[in-house]
Formats: sequence, structure tokens, C-alpha cells
Amino acid sequence: MTTMMRAFETGATAVASTLASAAAPVEAAPVGQPAPQPAQPQPAPPHGRAIVITSGKGGVGKTTTTANLGTALAARGQRVVLVDADVGLRNLDIVLGLESRVRFHLLDVLEEKASLDEALVRDKRSDSLSLLAAAQTREKEDVVTAHMTALIEELRRRFDYVLIDCPAGIEKGFKNAVAGAQHAIIVCTPEVSAVRDADRVVGLLPNDWHPDLIVNRVRPQLVKKGKMLSVEDVNDILRLPLLGVIAEEPGVIVATNKGEPLALDPASGIGAAYRAIAAKLAGDEAPSAGSDPAVSGGGWFAKLGALLGGR
Ligand SMILES: Nc1ncnc2c1ncn2[C@@H]1O[C@H](COP(=O)(O)OP(=O)(O)OP(=O)(O)O)[C@@H](O)[C@H]1O
Ligand SMILES: [Mg+2]
Repeated sequence: MTTMMRAFETGATAVASTLASAAAPVEAAPVGQPAPQPAQPQPAPPHGRAIVITSGKGGVGKTTTTANLGTALAARGQRVVLVDADVGLRNLDIVLGLESRVRFHLLDVLEEKASLDEALVRDKRSDSLSLLAAAQTREKEDVVTAHMTALIEELRRRFDYVLIDCPAGIEKGFKNAVAGAQHAIIVCTPEVSAVRDADRVVGLLPNDWHPDLIVNRVRPQLVKKGKMLSVEDVNDILRLPLLGVIAEEPGVIVATNKGEPLALDPASGIGAAYRAIAAKLAGDEAPSAGSDPAVSGGGWFAKLGALLGGR
């Protein structure tokens, strides 16, 4: 554990200890015996939910999902921090339109070059949304997994939701992103390769996790024509609680380039879908086990099942 991580612990303990000693006078010690020490109060237990947004396959919409889901949760009054764990290929700051505000990053905090307060970037639209950016010029291997775990724990003390944007792949970057999390959201597109990678990732997560699924970039017209996997097809393999379905829409790319998440756009269908996902995640509505009739279709399951070994 670095000094910075110890500082999280001792800092909180010191503040609590000061308050406790002011409230509870310490009894005088009998002559010749050491003075009794007031009990050291423990730091507040971490209360927030740490959720990793992962997929295995690259480019399926993890960063887009992290930005929009975080924005939607913050709009519901939750205190949310988004952690870009894609060290070396950071993007979350751009999707949120916060790139010009980033002064320090994740590794600066882990290596004690900056405090967490200095590195957290407040969103320009919502006071309850913050970003911890990734380093752009460092390697995923530079992150020590235990330090990442301690950092996420500290963030769980400060925020209701800690959403971790996972890099593609299943190597060190994936392991670090998962390390401090308690739950996973799998983002998958209706492509055989994405489903296979998602299936592999689910197998790598702790056994007692029950990840949720978001199917992204669905094109209902293609599904109806039997030219694209349906949500049903995808989930016949993955068998995960379905948090939501996001259509393919050019507006997502426009919003990404503008740095304005669609979750805040009342006129956007994609925005409404992300707001509904946030409501489900916050427990207002249970995730469904089945499919979305608007994008269901079929015919691909046999091919997919054969490819994946019929899990
Ligand atoms: N529903 C959608 N409709 C249209 N474009 C989308 C949709 N979702 C994501 N995209 C676009 O797809 C591209 C990849 O998205 P994103 O960066 O979120 O994926 P990722 O999984 O984080 O990628 P990586 O693995 O490289 O980190 C972006 O250009 C994004 O704007
Ligand atoms: Mg990404």
C-alpha cells in the first residue's frame, strides 16, 4: 500500500479521532500508569456501488455507456464518479466534453503526484458527477492492482456510484478495472465475435457476481430481415439479466464529438433508454430476463450456439 493509500485511511481516522476526543473526555490515569488512549474510530465504511463496464471486445460502447449511465444517475440526484481505467487510450473525458479540465489522472493519484481532490474533475452540467481521467501516455501495466482496489474503496466512501470504464481485452487493464468493483455491466453488440468475447469475460468474473447486460448498436430493421442477431439471440447465449437495449443511431457519434451525453437530451430515444437503464440500476425497476420485442427476431441462434459451444 502506498503512502497515498495509507493517507486515505489515516486522514479519515485522524479527523474522526479529533471529533471523538472533543466529544469524549479521557479519564485521568492512576499515578504511575500510562494514560488510557481514546479508541481510534474507524473510517466510515464504503457505501457506494462500484460497477465495472466491460465487454472483452473493443469498440462496442463501454465508454459511451459509462458516460451516459453516469450522467443519467447523476441527473437522478446520485453522487457519481466515472473512472477511466483505459490507461493509455483515454476517451471518457472527450465523451463528457471535459478534456480541457483534466490536469491530473489516475496514475498521478496512485503515485502520489496529486491528491484525489486535485484529480477529480467536476462535470460542467452536474455538480453530482465527477471524472477521474486515465493517463494518456502511460501503460496499463503501470497500475498496481492493490492500489487500484484501495482507490476504488476510497471513492466508494465519497460517492453513491463508482462506474469504471474498462479497457478492451482480458489482460492487466481488465484485471485492474475489475479489481475494486463489486458488480459488472456487460456491453455487447449483436455480433458473433462480441457475444463470444462477452461470454469469455463473464467466465472471468468472480463466481458470485451476477452481471447485467446491455445490448448496444441494435438495428431493428436488420434484425427483422434476419440480417442481424436479435437481443434474444444474444441473450440465449449469455443468459444475463437484461438492463437495456440501445439502438444504433448516428446521433451517438455526433453527441460524442460534441462532448454532450444524450442521456441529458429529452428528445433523444437513446437518452430515454439510458435514463431507463439508470432507473433499473437504481432499483426502481427490475432488470428483465428476456428480450426486447422491438428488436427481437431470430434465426441466428443455431449458428451462434455452435460457435460458442452452446453455453
Ligand atoms: N448506439 C450507438 N450508435 C451509434 N454509434 C455508437 C453507439 N454506441 C457507440 N457508438 C460509437 O461507437 C464507437 C465506439 O464506442 P465506445 O468508444 O463507447 O466503445 P468502447 O467499447 O469504449 O471502445 P474501446 O474498447 O475502444 O474502449 C464510438 O465512435 C461511439 O460513438
Ligand atoms: Mg472505451
